Amino acid sequence: MLIKKPADIQPSEITPESVYRRRREFMRDGAMLAAGAMLSPLAAPVALAQQGDALKAAAPAGLTRTPPAPWWEGKFEHVQPAPSEEPFYTNESLTPYEDVTRYNNFYEFGMDKSDPHNRSGEFRTEPWSVEISGEVGKPGTYHLEDILKPHDLEERVYRLRCVEAWSMVIPWIGFPLADLIKRFEPTSRARYVEFETAIQRDAMPGVRSRFSIIDWPYREGLRIDEAMNELAFLAVGLYGSYLPAQNGAPIRLVVPWKYGFKSIKSIVRMNFRETQPNTSWNDLQPNEYGFYANVNPAVHHPRWRQDTERRLPQTLFSRQVIPTRLFNGYGEQVAHLYKDLDLARHY
Ligand code: MTE
Repeated sequence: MLIKKPADIQPSEITPESVYRRRREFMRDGAMLAAGAMLSPLAAPVALAQQGDALKAAAPAGLTRTPPAPWWEGKFEHVQPAPSEEPFYTNESLTPYEDVTRYNNFYEFGMDKSDPHNRSGEFRTEPWSVEISGEVGKPGTYHLEDILKPHDLEERVYRLRCVEAWSMVIPWIGFPLADLIKRFEPTSRARYVEFETAIQRDAMPGVRSRFSIIDWPYREGLRIDEAMNELAFLAVGLYGSYLPAQNGAPIRLVVPWKYGFKSIKSIVRMNFRETQPNTSWNDLQPNEYGFYANVNPAVHHPRWRQDTERRLPQTLFSRQVIPTRLFNGYGEQVAHLYKDLDLARHY
C-alpha cells in the first residue's frame, strides 16, 4: 500500500463529535424511555419519535451525493445505540465526520486519500444485489432490501487501524455478519468466506486507470470462525445515517481487529468455500500483506514499523502518535481464534 503524508487532511471545519456524543446520550435515554414505555403503550410513539429525530439529526447535512433509494426510508429511526463499554463501544474521541469521509482508501476511485470523496459522485447504489454462492444451503442473488429486512440495526463504535499506521474511531451502523451468514445455512464444507466489491467501470476512475495495480474486483476473505465472531460487522451507515459512497456504500465489512484492508467496501458477492480464497493485497505483495492481517505491533511491515499509529485527525500541534495494541485492543474477543497459529508467520 502506498504511504501518503497526511497533507491532504484539512483541519476539520466542523467537529460533530461533541454534538454527536450528546445526541448519543439522548438516543440512549430515548431507547431506555422506549423500553420503559412498553409498560405504557401511550408513551411509546413519543419516545421512539425522539430517538428517530436524534439519529437523523446526527448526520451532517449534504453528507453524500448518493442518497439512498426510497426503501431506505425510516431504516435509521430505530437503531439500537451502542452500549457504554468495550468491545462494541470505546470512549476514545471519535474521529470527526469530515475526516472519516474525506481521508479514505478506496482504490477503485483513485489512490489519493481525497479521491474516494472527490471522484465517487457517479457511483450507483440502486439497484443493489448481493450474490450468495458456494457452500451454502440457500444460494441466490438477493436485493439489498431483502438482505437487510430481517436485521435490526445497531450502532458500534470501533477503532479502525490501517496497515499504513493511521487509525480512526468510527461510529458505524449495521448488524453482525454472523447473523447474515446463519440465514444462508453454510454447509460443513464452508471453511472460508470470500467477498467481492462491485465494479462500475464508468463510475470508478481507479478501475479504468492504466496505472491501476489491483486485479479487479477487490477481493477479501475471512476464515468462517473469524466471520462468525461477534465483532465482525456489516455496516450500512456511520454517524447516524447511511454510508457515503467513499466509505463503501451501500454495505461494507468492518473487522476491527484486523488491518483496514480486510474491511472490504461495497460488497456484491459472498462466496462460501472450502479453501482459502485469494485476496487483493495478498496477491499483489504477499511478503507485505498477509491473509490474516491481524493488527500486531510485534510484526512490522517490511517498509515501516507497526508498533505505533497516528490517530486521526492530526493537527499542527499534536501528531497524536499512540501505541498500537495486539488485535487492535480486541484480544479478549479474538485471541482464541489464533491460539494454534504462529502470528509472525501467518501475518
Ligand atoms: N475496499 C475496496 N473495495 N477497495 C479499497 O481500496 N481499501 C481498504 C478498505 N476497503 C479498500 C477497501 C483499506 S486499505 C482501508 S484502510 C479501509 O477500507 C478504509 O476504510 P475507510 O475509507 O472507510 O476508512
